Amino acid sequence: MLILVTGGCGFIGSEFIRWQLAANADARIVNLDKLTYAGNPENLAAIAGNSRYEFQLGDIADRSCVEGLLACNTFDGVVNFAAESHVDRSLLDSGPFVQTNVIGTQVLLDACRQAGIRRYVQVSTDEVYGSLGSTGKFTEETPLAPNSPYSASKAAADMLVRAYHHSFGFPAVITRCSNNYGPYQFPEKLLPLFITNLFADLQVPVYGAGTNVRDWIHVTDHCRGIDAALRRGKPGEVYNFGGLTEKTNLEITHLLLDLIGKPHSLIRYVADRPGHDLRYAIDCTKAKRELSWQPEVVFEQGLRDTIEWYRTHGDWVARIKSGAYRDYYQQQYGGRLNQA
Ligand code: NAD
Ligand code: DAU
Repeated sequence: MLILVTGGCGFIGSEFIRWQLAANADARIVNLDKLTYAGNPENLAAIAGNSRYEFQLGDIADRSCVEGLLACNTFDGVVNFAAESHVDRSLLDSGPFVQTNVIGTQVLLDACRQAGIRRYVQVSTDEVYGSLGSTGKFTEETPLAPNSPYSASKAAADMLVRAYHHSFGFPAVITRCSNNYGPYQFPEKLLPLFITNLFADLQVPVYGAGTNVRDWIHVTDHCRGIDAALRRGKPGEVYNFGGLTEKTNLEITHLLLDLIGKPHSLIRYVADRPGHDLRYAIDCTKAKRELSWQPEVVFEQGLRDTIEWYRTHGDWVARIKSGAYRDYYQQQYGGRLNQA
């Protein structure tokens, strides 16, 4: 199976590629990635030289690039991970979010439709459903009510995917997942930011009172779900994935402090995120019933392993935090970086 993965140098895309190549001997992958600040080729160092893997530098919103790639290869499936993914950044500047998440998805859909792609997975998020109160869960039928520019751009992309299926019979499925954690996550997101700050005895900035709730899922469980949707998903359907692990941000913070062995005085309460969604919780009954999928990683163990990964990958973190990863890209890809 030849798969086009977009955004494969990011956190989840790189896990999907590593996992896919290890789990399926028939899998071959082309990874199209623009290498934004969040895209890091180092995330795929473990598979460098694998003859079943190929990297292509490029932008999903660049029509000639995407069409050219689809003309040169006969892909059995496409999985679109490429996105601007950080809510806080979208509150500062929503432009890149609309450009990649909306326009990029539209360009990719057009090119895939034209090329006759037969399986397409749009990797989306539970944030498109908006926010829950203290009870209830998001199902696939929950109306979309995105609250941040990030989630609005993801919801717009989902609507395009839905419309391409409805209007043209384009064989797409949409997956919506809760908060991922695991290795290689860019240290701007809650868990890697707090873990790496604590290793350096730095304070951890808890937004508001820390009472917002997220559902945490290990990135490997998410990738198994995406693979199931790719291979067994029914075109036109949406599948929710979640980790069945709801925690307040403060619970997560206390857990990290205890596991890493740092004083709770390192907690610093800071101004809340504007429009901060209170609670996300996922009903993944449909994925269980129709894809035979369920989360497997036990949160406490997954979290311990993740902390250990960051402990043993201090160089990876240091390169990102110092900005030296730009030089790494230049070294790896030379002038081709300028095309992005
Ligand atoms: P990430 O920010 O770590 O990685 C994004 C990747 O996309 C990077 O490699 C980046 O270089 C690439 N990219 C960005 N713009 C591009 C463009 N125009 N063309 C080609 N490549 C481009 O993101 P992530 O956390 O790995 O998330 C991957 C996907 O999963 C996103 O679509 C996100 O919305 C979705 N998602 C994430 C989570 C989560 O908890 N992180 C949960 C649910 C869904
Ligand atoms: O739910 C899925 C989404 O999860 C994905 O679609 C997004 O791509 C991903 O970034 C993530 O979004 P969140 O906004 O939930 O993740 P983040 O790690 O930024 O924040 C998690 C919670 O922690 C949230 O309630 C805000 C809070 N937070 C975050 C940061 C970075 C803090 O309190 N302090 C912080 O410094």
